[in-house]
Order: sequence, then structure tokens, then C-alpha cells
Amino acid sequence: MDPELVEKLAEELKNLKMGAIQGIPLPESTCDIWDQIYNFQAREDDILISTFPKAGTTWMQEIVDLIMLNGDVERSMRAPCFIKVPFIDLHPKPMPSGVDAANAMKSPRLLKTHLPIQLLPPSFWEKNVKVIYVARNAKDCMVSYFHFQRMNKGLPDPGTWNEYFSKFLAGDVPWGSWFDHVIGWGKAKDQHQILYVFYEDILEDPRREIRKISTFLGKDLTEEVLDTIQHHTSFASMKENPMTNFSVLPSVVFDQSISAFLRKGKVGDWKNHFLVSQNIVFDEEYEQKMEGSGLNFRTGL
Ligand code: A3P
Repeated sequence: MDPELVEKLAEELKNLKMGAIQGIPLPESTCDIWDQIYNFQAREDDILISTFPKAGTTWMQEIVDLIMLNGDVERSMRAPCFIKVPFIDLHPKPMPSGVDAANAMKSPRLLKTHLPIQLLPPSFWEKNVKVIYVARNAKDCMVSYFHFQRMNKGLPDPGTWNEYFSKFLAGDVPWGSWFDHVIGWGKAKDQHQILYVFYEDILEDPRREIRKISTFLGKDLTEEVLDTIQHHTSFASMKENPMTNFSVLPSVVFDQSISAFLRKGKVGDWKNHFLVSQNIVFDEEYEQKMEGSGLNFRTGL
């Protein structure tokens, strides 16, 4: 990356502040352009990937991009994942906002959001856009987000694991409460074109899930193409791929010497972090908050 740009990025990140929209903590640079984000104009042939942070967004981006490209790996490597798929609720100054990047993009577009359902720009519903929602169990999400906030200089420092545990449970992390997010999107899934996919299911049987996603997108792929997509989107392949492993970002943005972006890619890493006492607190709160949601998350495979 151009050293002048790196310097500007570092300067912006030094002044990093958080704000909130309707009580949801978001980077101040997102809040500053909230009107533009909320009034974003979706197009009928957009595909939106929606997730709570760390649920497997980048993984799904690669899967969907390759499905739409009929498994053309060379074309999937045309640009880094964060350029190919505009993140509409982010403005990583001095780079263009996700909204501007999306507006400048030819259709069909693949877009990303972490917004809870109540903050989604209404034009996505008006245009009946297909949405793929990826949900990951809260315990692994919490651990992954903790390490991500340690290395991502565009987000607040997470503090100690103990402090983070309480903040995450209280929804006091960027993009808010995991519980409200998965429940909100879960309720919407039967009213809109939303495919609700679990991270754990993809890890368990990637072929089955890739096929399901292709069908949802109206693509009938050969076994050979499915093979290619499965291989190219495995954790090992994505960790090696400079277009998906974020190695093109300078360490002033993502300091991967602290924690790799493609860190572990497993189900159950929470067991290496949660104290027995934290697990008890978590399970009690989980039961209360998830009661009646109809959502079943797996914390082990
Ligand atoms: P870990 O930190 O647990 O390793 P997001 O893209 O939403 O930020 O999610 C990142 C998480 O998804 C990280 O989790 C990352 O390792 C995991 N991930 C990314 N690609 C993956 C893949 N191909 N297989 C399994 N996990 C993957």
C-alpha cells in the first residue's frame, strides 16, 4: 500500500471514536454518514451477506462470489475480499465509504452488512433482495471478536478477557448485542428472501451448505465446480490466499502479529477461554435471552 495512504490511515485510527445509532454502538465514522447509509439504494439483483461480526462473513463472501462465478478461481482473485464486497455500514477513512464503493459498482453486486435488522436500509426490502445471514454460536463469536478487537485498530481495544466477557454479554461491543442480532434476523427469515445459515453447519459439511446456497441463488452447479468451491474456500486455502487473508492491509490497520485474521476457524475454541464460572453465568443468561427464539446453536461438533 502507498506509504502516504498508510500514514493517513494511521492518523485516522489514532482518533478512533465510537458513536451510537438507536442505542447500537457503531464507529463514529459510520454514525457521521448514517443518513447516507440508511438511504442506501439497493438493486434487485444485489446479494446481501448479513452477519453479526465474526460469524464467518468473509468465508461466505468467498463462497457466494465463487458460486456466482461458476467456480472461476482466477476471477475470484481479482481483488481483496474487502474491495470485492462493499461493507455498507463502514467508512474506513480516508478510503471511500462502503456506500460510495457500492454505488460505484456495476451489477450484480455482492454486499456486506453487520447491521441489526431494525437498522437495515429499507430499500433492501423494497427491492426484495436475496439475503444470506450467517449465524455462529455466541461463545465462539465472543472469543473470535475479542481477538479481532485486539488486532483491528479500527475498533476499540477489548480490554482483558474478563472485561470483554461482560461487555459482550451486555451488547456493549461494536454492532451491539449478539442476541438481538441473531433473534432479529431469525424472526425476519420467513417474511423475506433470507437464507439463514449456521457457521457450524458449513464447517460440518461444507458441500451440503454450498449446494444449499447455490440453490437459493438459483445456480445449478456441477460436482466439479462444487469441488473447486469447497477446496478454494477451506480454512487452509483462505489462510494462504492474499485476497482473503487480509495480508494486503498494513499492520496499522490489522496487526496480524497480535492475532491472525484467519485465526482458528473452529467450533469450540471458547473452551480454551471461558472460565467454569463464566460458562455458568453465560448459560443462564443465554437460556433467558434465547427462550422462544426457535434458534438452536451448536457450541461443539
Ligand atoms: P476465528 O477467529 O474463530 O478463527 P468474519 O469474516 O465474520 O470476521 O469471521 C471471521 C471468523 O471466521 C474467524 O474465526 C475466521 O477464522 C473464520 N473463518 C474465515 N474463513 C473460514 C473458513 N474458510 N473456514 C472456517 N472458518 C473461517
